[in-house]
Amino acid sequence: MKNVLVVYYSQSGQLKDIAQNIALPFLNDDEIRLDFYAIEPQNDFPFPWDNASFFGVFPETFRQIPQEIKIPPQNILTTDYDLILFHYQVWFLSPSLPVTSFLKSSYAGEILKNKAVVTINGSRNMWALAQEKVKKLLAENQAHLVGNIALTDRNINLVSVVTIVDWLFSGIKRKAYGIFPLPGVSDKEIKESSKFGKVIKKHLKSNDYNEMQPALIANGAVEFRWFLISMDKKANKMFKAWSTLILKFPGQRVFLLKCFKVYLFIAIWILSPIVHLIELILYPLRYFSIQKQKKYHQGI
Ligand SMILES: Cc1cc2nc3c(=O)[nH]c(=O)nc-3n(C[C@H](O)[C@H](O)[C@H](O)COP(=O)(O)O)c2cc1C
Repeated sequence: MKNVLVVYYSQSGQLKDIAQNIALPFLNDDEIRLDFYAIEPQNDFPFPWDNASFFGVFPETFRQIPQEIKIPPQNILTTDYDLILFHYQVWFLSPSLPVTSFLKSSYAGEILKNKAVVTINGSRNMWALAQEKVKKLLAENQAHLVGNIALTDRNINLVSVVTIVDWLFSGIKRKAYGIFPLPGVSDKEIKESSKFGKVIKKHLKSNDYNEMQPALIANGAVEFRWFLISMDKKANKMFKAWSTLILKFPGQRVFLLKCFKVYLFIAIWILSPIVHLIELILYPLRYFSIQKQKKYHQGI
């Protein structure tokens, strides 16, 4: 008998849906016991979001300052799991604050130590550097990363900005203004994600994860857009400066968060298209380094 734990946090239910679909092949197997654990913050975040809460969560999320979470159920803390399917979403280029709070809690050590972990993220599209942060926290908990799946909104970057803002601030997954595509990971991709569960199950049963990541990649597990990696790196530098400034002057927090919002608007709508254009021109010169990056980010 193999024990598998599915860890997740989800506001809209998208990541829960992904978690349930990936877990489907495990559910119908007598040799596998499956538990679900939803991370619960002591003070949960609003959904739909309002302006103040959305930008207000930025400094602590980016600086990975943990908040209190509720104690996981006793059976989750005491079961010796063979495999953990660890789902997270990205907030401000970092793992979401509830997920960071779990990974930095003492419970994470109890659950994850010496365990094989597959990370699964469901985000808009900028997940790559957040995954590096998750890898670091998993290593601090002495977990062994054996696979990674990154599910994203496959639409054009700026289109997905419009649609996700509409979704997060209305709470409804709908066609923004009646003309835009649906936000988030597509329903088709969510439904089909049980194929990843099949691949993972095979490797769980043979207790050998060596060839699992290439098999997941062959099934489309990790979308790589080179332009987004470069934006992610640049934005991480700017977010570091902004979060330091905001946390250094708590008395000016509201004003500085408003300035950050203006910066973000300019960065997304003016700077990112310019950078994209420059990167496109430089693409032939950077071809080999981009291929190297692709290999790295599609690996574990
Ligand atoms: C505060 C906040 C910040 C976010 N920042 C990012 C981001 O930097 N990159 C990204 O790809 N998605 C970002 N997202 C989208 C989430 O990763 C996720 O796709 C969405 O919130 C749905 O997740 P859910 O399952 O919790 O509902 C952000 C969402 C929120 C609420």
